[in-house]
This record gives sequence, C-alpha cells and structure tokens, in this order.
Amino acid sequence: MPTTTWNRHHILSLADFTTTEYDTVLQTAASFQEVLSRRTKKVPTLQGQVVANLFFEPSTRTRSSFEIAAKRLSADTLNFAAATSSMTKGETILDTAKTYLAMGTDIMVVRHREAGVPNAIAAEMDRLGVKVSVLNAGDGQHEHPSQALLDLFTICTLIDPASPRLDLLKGKKIAIVGDILHSRVARSNIWSLIASDAEVHLAAPPTLLPKLFAEFLLESGVRSQEFIISSSPSFPTPHSPNQQLFLHWQLEPALQNADFVMTLRLQKERMTAHLLPSLREYHQLFGITRTKLQLCKPNVKVLHPGPVNRGVEISSELMDDPEFSLIQSQVTSGVAVRMALLYLLGSGKA
Ligand code: NCD
Repeated sequence: MPTTTWNRHHILSLADFTTTEYDTVLQTAASFQEVLSRRTKKVPTLQGQVVANLFFEPSTRTRSSFEIAAKRLSADTLNFAAATSSMTKGETILDTAKTYLAMGTDIMVVRHREAGVPNAIAAEMDRLGVKVSVLNAGDGQHEHPSQALLDLFTICTLIDPASPRLDLLKGKKIAIVGDILHSRVARSNIWSLIASDAEVHLAAPPTLLPKLFAEFLLESGVRSQEFIISSSPSFPTPHSPNQQLFLHWQLEPALQNADFVMTLRLQKERMTAHLLPSLREYHQLFGITRTKLQLCKPNVKVLHPGPVNRGVEISSELMDDPEFSLIQSQVTSGVAVRMALLYLLGSGKA
C-alpha cells in the first residue's frame, strides 16, 4: 500500500476533495487492483473491523461491490435492507444507525433516497463522539462519490495503468449525457472532472438539466442553443483559468471530438413530472449509438454507472461492444476503488 496521510473521517461528497485526496484514492485502488489479480484475493488489512451496509434504497452493484470490497479486506460485514428491517415497524434512521453502532460497527456505508441522510448519520456519530466513519453510497439526487471515483479510476487506468492520477485527464473532453437533473452520479462526476482540469460537456434535453443551471443561464440572458457556463456560483472556483464546464441542449456539440462519453440512466423513479415526450424520441435525440460516436475521437470510450435501460440512453449493441464500452470494467474497478475507500477510512481506527 502507498504510504499516505489521509485525514478525512467521512466520505460524503466530492465537492471539497483535494487533488492529493483524488491521487491517494487512485494509487491505493491501483494497489488493490493488483491484489485482486492474485490467486488469493484477500488481505488482512481490516481484520476485526465491522463494515455495515445500510441500504435504505434498492441497489445491485453498489451494495454487492461494497460487500465484496469489505470481505477482501477481511472486515466483518453486516447487511441491512430497509424492506426487511425494523423500519417497517417505525424505527427511525438514526435509531437504526445507533443499533449498528452498538454492535461495534466501524464504517457505515449509507444509501438513501433522500439527499443528506448520510450527512445526518455522520453528524450524529460525531455528536456522540464515536470514531465511526460514514461513506455515502448515493443519497437522493445529491452525490454518489464512490461511483465518480470508480469512473475516474476506470478512465485513468485506461490512460496509464501503472500510475493512475488526476492530471492524466487534463485537457481531455468528457461528455456527460442524459438525465443530469436526477443524477447524483453526474453531480459527483462534475466535481472530480472539474478538479482534473478536463473539459466537461453536459448534454441533455432542457427538461433534464438541473434547474440551478437553467436559472443561472436565464439570469445571464443566454438564449442560444449552446451555452458555456464557466463561472456558475454553484461550482467551485476554477483551479485554472482554462477550466470550463459546457452545457448543451443538443447532443452533437458535446460528442464532437470527445475522448470519453458518460451516459446516465433515465431515472424514471425520480421523475415527478412527464419530462419527455417518449423514450423513443429520447433515444433518437440523446441515446448513444455507434453511429453517433463517429463524432467523437476514434478511440472514444463509453461509460455508464448501471443499471442500464437498454435501447434508451445507450443502444443495446453498443453497450455490449468491448471496443467502446467500459461498463464491465467500471464494475470491476468498483471493487478496487471501494477497497481503497474502506482502507483509507478504516486504517486510522486500528
Ligand atoms: C446509480 C445510482 O444508484 O445512483 N447506480 C449505481 O450506483 N451504480 C445510477 C442509477 O441509479 O442510475
């Protein structure tokens, strides 16, 4: 493992992550990737520690990924699923968390459909003066830090497998396409990609762009079909004057010469209004296909956090095409990245 100083006690958001923290996560994940390529894929690093997966919302890959990551680190794991828990009898979220605390939990991995729940649990743990760390595994439309970090790791290891680091993305064009309005994945990715000095292009129909962006654009009096927002007050001060975030209401300018395309699931369960005429039309305008990828750099790669609506945000054939699709490597990288996060939070507790 790289020798490192890690001072962050909870991982709730990437908004204030530093370059050093990104690089530490990437290097640590690379070491664990190596462990995972061995015949014995297990290390004793977190032996005796308890990792509780508190998933108040359904999940396949994130929950399983955290579970296998904790097991590869030799931690004991507890799994909680809201539907089969005492929450059905009226127990509150904080009381559930305190129950897991009383069982000796060291790290709580929390997913909830409401934004801010992991922060509330972390604040309660801090108030109680206990050493428990909280890791946000996706909260409402807010953030999904471990997904953005595994996306970052997937891209960086593709560019330099031996030494993944943030500055490899400097100047790369990355398009994030789809349901940005409802996507916590997009929000966390925007933080990490901005920190890397990549050029970030968001593309979605107007109804699926975050209201915050739309308000900012309207206030700025921008009326054209293509917007550039580089000084939104909701985004961090740029690390360099060249850094930019672009917002498009059409797909083509975002794809033009892109190095990577991140597609997002249409989050139908979070949509409170009818925001799209039809899925067919959405696919025609914003769905990623091999033909549309011809606008990008020739060796462009496509990412998707999963689960996928096949034939909606991405064509089924492209999803399964190993020449372009990084979807399976994202899932594989996810284990190494989550091992890194648990290790970094857990190693200070021994
Ligand atoms: C994402 C999530 O749940 O936020 N999926 C995931 O964690 N792999 C994205 C999504 O639900 O579309």
